[in-house]
Amino acid sequence: MYKFYVTTPIYYVNDVPHIGHAYTTIAADILARYNRLAGKKVFFLTGTDEHGQKVQQAANEKNRSPKEHADLMVENFKSLWTRLNISNNAFIRTTDSGHVKTVQGLMQRLWDIGEIERRKYVGWYCTPDERFWTEKDLNEGNCPECGRPVEQIQEENYFFLMSKYQDSLIAYIDRNPDYIRPETRRNEVLGFLKNNELGDLCISRPKQRLSWGIPLTFDDNFVTYVWFDALVNYFSATRYLVPDAEMAKSGDFWWPPSHHIIGKDILTTHAVYWSTMLMALKLPLPENIFAHGWWTIEGKKMSKSFGNVVDPNEMIEKYGADAFRYFLFREVPFGHDGDFSEEAMVNRINTDLANDLGNLLSRSLTMIEKYNEGIVPDPVVSKERDKEKIVRARFDSESVDVQGGPALTLYYGFDTFISTKLEFSHAVSLLWSAINSVNKYIEDSAPWKEKDRGILSNILYTLAESLRLIAVYVYPFMPSAGDNIWKQLGINTGIEETIASSPGYREWAGYKLSGTRTSKGGALFPRIDLKKAKETRKSSEDRVNPSRSKENKVETSGDNLISISDFSKVRLKVGKVITAEKVEGSNKLIKLQVDTGETRQVVAGIGKTYSPNDLLGKKVAVVTNLQPAKLMGVESQGMLLAATDSEGALSILTVDRDVKEGAKIK
Ligand code: MSP
Repeated sequence: MYKFYVTTPIYYVNDVPHIGHAYTTIAADILARYNRLAGKKVFFLTGTDEHGQKVQQAANEKNRSPKEHADLMVENFKSLWTRLNISNNAFIRTTDSGHVKTVQGLMQRLWDIGEIERRKYVGWYCTPDERFWTEKDLNEGNCPECGRPVEQIQEENYFFLMSKYQDSLIAYIDRNPDYIRPETRRNEVLGFLKNNELGDLCISRPKQRLSWGIPLTFDDNFVTYVWFDALVNYFSATRYLVPDAEMAKSGDFWWPPSHHIIGKDILTTHAVYWSTMLMALKLPLPENIFAHGWWTIEGKKMSKSFGNVVDPNEMIEKYGADAFRYFLFREVPFGHDGDFSEEAMVNRINTDLANDLGNLLSRSLTMIEKYNEGIVPDPVVSKERDKEKIVRARFDSESVDVQGGPALTLYYGFDTFISTKLEFSHAVSLLWSAINSVNKYIEDSAPWKEKDRGILSNILYTLAESLRLIAVYVYPFMPSAGDNIWKQLGINTGIEETIASSPGYREWAGYKLSGTRTSKGGALFPRIDLKKAKETRKSSEDRVNPSRSKENKVETSGDNLISISDFSKVRLKVGKVITAEKVEGSNKLIKLQVDTGETRQVVAGIGKTYSPNDLLGKKVAVVTNLQPAKLMGVESQGMLLAATDSEGALSILTVDRDVKEGAKIK
């Protein structure tokens, strides 16, 4: 296959990205980069999941429309992917009109062919949380989330007739051993399917309960339930976001995907819901669904309440994107659970990156400078010894006949470990054994003692050519380091840019390096002092509230900064609350009359924290020149300022001395 299509889950736009999101996305990036190096056409898709109750709720609380809220939050993901060097070709948002149209089209198709049915269904409703629960979700008869009593309600909904695909799905998984990987996950799904009766899947929500979703074309009173909308993203992207659109015109060029990379928590939705949806739609199934494990943090489950959520932005600032990427895939076999600690990461940086790889580069370049004026010499064929052949055998695509040469070359090893098995950590160990064999070769050859010019040239050439190829294999894991090694070797193009002009660039001597002038730079990976790194850790107070989004970091440059004149466009005044009452039908919105020098009506999403009485007479900070907006049909002529912490607790801003209403805030 000369094309390769890889996806990540689409992430809930409400979350602030953490190590788990980064992990899945880097895995897909390694695959995308490796397959590009192997000469394939690559489509790498990631994106965000933007519909549903939680987004609607969060937006309400912030007095934004759900789409405005999603537009702001999506930037957290986009900016992290840039900083992590993620090379996705497309970013799908479930609010894209192209996606909405595809979801509606597919649902209509299933409805037309009788794969969807309307049915009555009974469940338990938590009115304050506005959430529906099944009998088995309940906690001693109460809402599992807030513990309050629930009420039994009956409603109609649409169901996808998933149950009838149970046998075909079992047969499919049995026949296709690589469909679900790793093996343990495949067995889990098969066990589940063979021992349980598959139900049908509720795929809608009535609009009056959830309006932030995609309306069904055959019944406008309902929207799709989140998974149907979300899973379809993988398909809808092939309809409007593909690379090489010209070529993709001919029908289903990009469908089906080569890999869906997901975490183990969302295996059933992919292996069962998505597979049966595709079967009903008569679309080919993906070639592989790979479910990776979860990270714990220093032995504990990662959670906001433990204050141990790892923010990838912080890791990038402290250690660099390359080192973070490397650590995640070196430390733990892909598919297993793993434990993250900064200490383990610093050890890896110091031993593997600074010592083994960084020193190899700097020693080799120093010797080329010292013994050959910084020019990579020509190899002298007649002087090639077994020592050189053994090193070369690590990199050649054809095995070289030398005693002690390794059985598995990097060329084939990477193909097996990365393309076929997704065993990233094995690929990295193989690469490091090659790096260390080159380090050993330096010691064995002792170029500083070598008197023979021809042998010395061969040694220097072997070092440079090994480093050129090491960089190629380093590149999928650490793209900046790979390109940086090439630059220091004196190659002026990036690794990926070379593929087209020098197709043999992954072969020993497949790119002409002799005669190149090297340009030694600073240390590839400076050593890290663990003690100092720990001191620069966030203060303990910060760690309790770890979800540092971009909003609460000191930023001194970048597109987010605004000028003082931009800021002065926002008019802020002190207002006194004269009346306050709940907006009917909402437990969050409070309607206030506020005196800001003139009386204005403001609707604020603070009803979960404040009762109307709490607010009377308070002096609050009000934005007075916002365009009026309607919230639940009630006009709001401004906005109250309030602080929200990562747990969602709210506190409205007031003045700490009595100032007159209407006073300007500057
Ligand atoms: N929106 C759904 C996916 C829809 S795909 C059609 C979703 N989103 S999510 O924002 O919760 O993203 C979850 C991804 O992050 C999953 O792949 C999940 O496994 C991963 N992780 C979340 N916490 C994690 C760890 N602690 N460790 C590793 N990955 C984990 O689910």
